[in-house]
Amino acid sequence: MGPFITFEGPEGSGKSTHIRLLAEQLRARGREVLVTREPGGTPLCEAIRGLLQHDTADESPTPRAEALLFFASRAQLVETTIRPALRRGVWVLCDRYADSTFAYQGHGRGFPLDALQAINAFATGALVPDLTLLLDIDAAASRQRLAARQAAASGGDRFERESDAFHDRLRRGFLDLATREPARFRIVESGRAIASVAEDVWSAVATRFAAALDGG
Ligand code: TYD
Repeated sequence: MGPFITFEGPEGSGKSTHIRLLAEQLRARGREVLVTREPGGTPLCEAIRGLLQHDTADESPTPRAEALLFFASRAQLVETTIRPALRRGVWVLCDRYADSTFAYQGHGRGFPLDALQAINAFATGALVPDLTLLLDIDAAASRQRLAARQAAASGGDRFERESDAFHDRLRRGFLDLATREPARFRIVESGRAIASVAEDVWSAVATRFAAALDGG
């Protein structure tokens, strides 16, 4: 099985940049890499992403329906894309995965974590990442980056418009998840120069997968 690495963190924490940089590092070492994201990553999952991110017509999903749409997207992505790639020995890098549900729908929206964990195990067939990189950024810095992003594009998605209190809960939620599973998580402080963050990401990966990276 190839290594399965997920990137987590609040909006504006730099996940997509650091996934791209890590993929480049691994490819430069001759490793086959699949980069994917949640929600999304297949045509059906991208359609679900569209449903989730923008309030369609006059109806937006209720919080429960929203949670189940994230799980539906994950179930599809795991079975059609992630597991087959891992079986071929490919390194899979995923932008958000189950911890986003535990942080956003659990800590953010207030659904009980044990219920979310049970549905997640059903949706994924209990596929757990080998390593989860939590890009941590404080709520104020995250806000600043988002404001810049929103000025450049549209008005932001449903979660980007949530309150500061929501974003504080979210960040504490991610940190709490990391504390509960220290063997799987590495916390990387992300409010710094891109090169320093990328160095820490690489060092976490190189340490965790020293054997797989050896000899090539
Ligand atoms: P995205 O544009 O990918 O956000 P970001 O660039 O910050 O990663 O949008 C994904 C949104 O969906 C983001 O606000 C987080 C949210 N989300 C959940 O609420 N639950 C989940 O399980 C997942 C995967 C994402």
